[in-house]
Amino acid sequence: MQSFIVVVAAYLIGSLSFAVIVSRGMGLADPRSYGSGNPGATNVLRSGNRKAAALTLLGDAIKGLVAVLLARVLVNAWQLDPALVPAAALAVTLGHMWPIFFRFAGGKGVATALGVLLGLDWRVGVIVLLVWLIIAKGLKISSLAALVAALIAPLLAWYFMPDRASLYAVTVISVLLIARHHKNIRGLLSGSERRITGRDETGQ
Ligand code: G3P
Repeated sequence: MQSFIVVVAAYLIGSLSFAVIVSRGMGLADPRSYGSGNPGATNVLRSGNRKAAALTLLGDAIKGLVAVLLARVLVNAWQLDPALVPAAALAVTLGHMWPIFFRFAGGKGVATALGVLLGLDWRVGVIVLLVWLIIAKGLKISSLAALVAALIAPLLAWYFMPDRASLYAVTVISVLLIARHHKNIRGLLSGSERRITGRDETGQ
């Protein structure tokens, strides 16, 4: 029962879609109705409201971090299997991608995965964050930065994380994240991928 609580708590935390919550709170349009339609920080930025995008990024990243840290606290307090921490890492990501509070229409998991990695092993989180930032700033393509970050994350997990459960969780998260970017991958291959512009370049 306690193991169940750890995993379900992480899933429920992940289900808090900050793109939708922040947009509603600030009186902005639902991010699922414009741009890429993705409830994530990159798409909220297309509303033209940088503060909303920053709050979305922070909220989604912090919930990933909090879910992992909370799982670690509960695992220690209740003396549970340590593998429940990476299980919670996966559960919070699943919650973000398929949130129970938002009809299972969630985001692509980039910010949440960054928070999760910081919680599992801060070294992996910091390296992945830097790689994501450098590519996103340099090339102005958020999805490409996320895809490269997702590819290197399991390699870093293999190098830095001693337990296999964490390696498996990070690998599954990366696979899910890449799968959630299937439209972006098609856009990158055809040269039509949206850039980070701070507005909705589709004009919708
Ligand atoms: O964080 C999601 C990002 O990688 C892509 O977002 O809105 O350009 O599909 P978007």
